[in-house]
Amino acid sequence: MAKRHLITCALPYANGPVHIGHIAGCFLPSDIHNRFLRMQGKEVLFVCGTDEHGVPITLKAKNEGKTPQQVVDENHIIIAKGLKDFGIHFDTFSRTTHKLHHQTAQDFFKTLYDKGVFVEEVTEQFYDEEAKQFLADRYIVGTCPNCAYENAYGDQCEKCGRTSSPTELVSPKSALTGNTPIRKETKNWYLPLDKMQTEFLNDWVASMKSKWKSSVYGQCNSWLKEGLKPRAMTRDLDWGVPVPLTDAEGKVMYVWFDAPIGYITATKEAAGDDWQKWWMDADTEMTHFLGKDNIVFHTIIFPAMLHAHGGFNLPTHVPANEFLNLEGDKISTSRDHAIWLHEYIQDFPNKTDELRYALTSILPETKDSDFTWADYQAKVNNELVAILGNFINRVIVLTHKYYGGKVPQGALSASIPDVSTKLEEALSIFNQRQGLEFYMEIARNGNKYLQDTEPWKLIKDEANAQKIADCLYTCLDQVKKLGKYAQIFLPETSTKIRKLLRIDSYDVDIQVGHVLGDPVLLFQKIEDEIIAEQVQKLKKGKSNELIDEAEPKNMPIAPLKPEISFDDFVKLDIRVATIVAAEKVKKADRLLHITLNIGLETRTVVSGIAEHFKPEDIIGKQVTYLANLAPRKLKGIESSGMILLAEDATGQLTFVNPTDKTAEGSVIA
Ligand code: MF3
Ligand code: ZN
Repeated sequence: MAKRHLITCALPYANGPVHIGHIAGCFLPSDIHNRFLRMQGKEVLFVCGTDEHGVPITLKAKNEGKTPQQVVDENHIIIAKGLKDFGIHFDTFSRTTHKLHHQTAQDFFKTLYDKGVFVEEVTEQFYDEEAKQFLADRYIVGTCPNCAYENAYGDQCEKCGRTSSPTELVSPKSALTGNTPIRKETKNWYLPLDKMQTEFLNDWVASMKSKWKSSVYGQCNSWLKEGLKPRAMTRDLDWGVPVPLTDAEGKVMYVWFDAPIGYITATKEAAGDDWQKWWMDADTEMTHFLGKDNIVFHTIIFPAMLHAHGGFNLPTHVPANEFLNLEGDKISTSRDHAIWLHEYIQDFPNKTDELRYALTSILPETKDSDFTWADYQAKVNNELVAILGNFINRVIVLTHKYYGGKVPQGALSASIPDVSTKLEEALSIFNQRQGLEFYMEIARNGNKYLQDTEPWKLIKDEANAQKIADCLYTCLDQVKKLGKYAQIFLPETSTKIRKLLRIDSYDVDIQVGHVLGDPVLLFQKIEDEIIAEQVQKLKKGKSNELIDEAEPKNMPIAPLKPEISFDDFVKLDIRVATIVAAEKVKKADRLLHITLNIGLETRTVVSGIAEHFKPEDIIGKQVTYLANLAPRKLKGIESSGMILLAEDATGQLTFVNPTDKTAEGSVIA
C-alpha cells in the first residue's frame, strides 16, 4: 500500500462554467476519494485548476469583444467559487496562465527538447492572411467532399462523420474571417508516439491491465491497436505557453501538452519545494480522475511525456467515468442543455448535499447514466428526507423526550449489521455508487431497528427501562456512524450531525450523560413546483442554438476495412434473435451467459458485455446475431455465434436491433 497519494482532477476548461456532467465525471468522484483517503488517515494531496489555453478561448474572446485573459479570469472565478461552495476541497486550485505554470511547462518542454525527444517537421498549413494566423483544423469550414454538406469542419464532417484533413474540403474558408485561407509552410515539434509506442507504451499499458477498469484499459488498447501517430506538441497561435526555443517565434504549446503539466504546477503551489515527493517518490501513488473523453491524454500522451522526461511516477489508477446525460439527452453547452453548478447553487441555497447525493447515486461508473429532475426529487424526498433525515431526527427527539437530551447508559445491540467494512472496501476500488448504497444501509438498518424495538411502546412498562436505554444508545451510535461517513458523501450534513451530537470530531467517543443539541430537520422535501420550474428552464435553453466551443478531442472513428467480394458477404448468416435469458458468468467480470431464441432453435452465446449491460436490462431485447460463426468455449461454456453490437470511439456499446419487432430468425442481408 502506498504511503502517499496524489489525486488529480481533470482541469476544467475555462471557456465556460462547469455543469453537472463535469461534476459527475470527475469533480465529485475525486472529492469523494480524497475525503475517503483522508478519513483513513492517509497523506493526500488533491490538486486541480483551470485549463486556460487553447483556440476556443481565443474565439470566445473575439466573439465577446474581450481579451482571452478576461475570458479566463471571469470563468476561473465562477468555476472556483462553484466548486468551493459545492464542498470540493482541493489543496490548490491553480491556473495554467500562472507564471509558475508557464515556467514549469517550459522547463518540461526544454528537457524533452534537450533530450532529443521531439521530431521537427515542416508542413503546409492553412493561414488566414487577414487574421494573421494559422488555422487549427476546427476553424476551417468548407464543403464536405463526401456528402457535400456546406459547413463541414476541417477535421470532421458533422453530417456524414468523415474524418480527414482540411485540405480535402471543397472551397475551404476561415472561420475567423470567412476569407479563403492560403497555404503556408510552418515548423512544429512532434511527440513521436509511434516510436514511443513500441519502445514503452505497449508494455507499460499492458502492465496496468489489472489496475485500470476495463473501459479505460479497453479504450487505451484500441488506440494502441490502431497504431499511434506522431502528434504535434506546438501550435502557431498567440495564446498559450510560448515555446521556449529561439526558432519558435509566435508558437505556443499544444494545450494538451501544457494542461496536464498543470497538475505539477498545482502541486508546486501547494507543497513548495517539497513538490517532488508527490511526483517522484516511489511510495507516492498517483490517481487521475477524469471523464472518458480524456482517457487517451492520461493513459498515453501524458505518461509518454512523463516517461520521456524521466524521474516522474506514472499514474497507478485512472478511474475515468462515462458521461452523464440530462433528461434522456446529451448534455450540450452549445444548446444550453445543462444544469450549471453556479446556477444550481443559486436556485437551491443550502442544498449542495442534495445534489451531491443525487449525483453520487447515479455516477456513470460503468456506463452513461441519466440525470432527471424527477429522480433528483425522488431521491431527496424518499431517501434523504424519509430515511436518513427521519431516522436521525427520531433518535434525537426520543432522546430528548425520554432522557432530557442526555445520552443514556446503554449497551450496543448486536442486531444491527455493520456495513462499514463493505462501505470502505467499495470506496477503495472506486465503487462509489455502491459505497453510497452501503451508507444508506446504515440509515435503513437504524430505522428498521428502531421500528422493530418500538421504544414508544416499551415506555409504558417501567421494567423495560434498560431495553429503551440500549435501543437509544445503539441508535445514537448509528447516528454517529452516519455523521462520520457523511464526511465523505454529504459534508454539510456531516457538520450538522456533529452539531446535533455536540461533538468536535467523529474520532471521540460519546460519553454517557453527554447532552445532545436540539433536534433540527436535516433535509426538506422538494415540492413539485420547484422541479417543474427547473424542467421548464431546461426546455427554454434547448431552443438556443450556438456554436459548440469545446476543444476538439479528435477521437478516432475506426478506419474502414479493405474491400470484400459479394461472395464473402453472403457467407455470413446474420439474423434477428431475441434474448430470452441472461446471467453473469461466475468468476468472469466481463462475461454474460445469454440464451437466444433464433426462431429455428435456442442458442447459447457468451458475450463480453457484462460491464456494459445488466442481465435484467437486456432480457426481451431483439438483437442482430451472426449465426454461423464457429463455436468456441469460454469459461467452460460453449458459445455459438455472436451478438453484434455497435461501439463508438469512446468504447460505448449499443445493441443493433430492428426498429420494429420482427420474427426471430429473420435473415438480415
Ligand atoms: N480541459 C480538459 C477538458 O475539459 C481537461 C484537461 S485535463 C489535463 O476536457 F490533464 F489536461 F489537465
Ligand atoms: Zn460529410
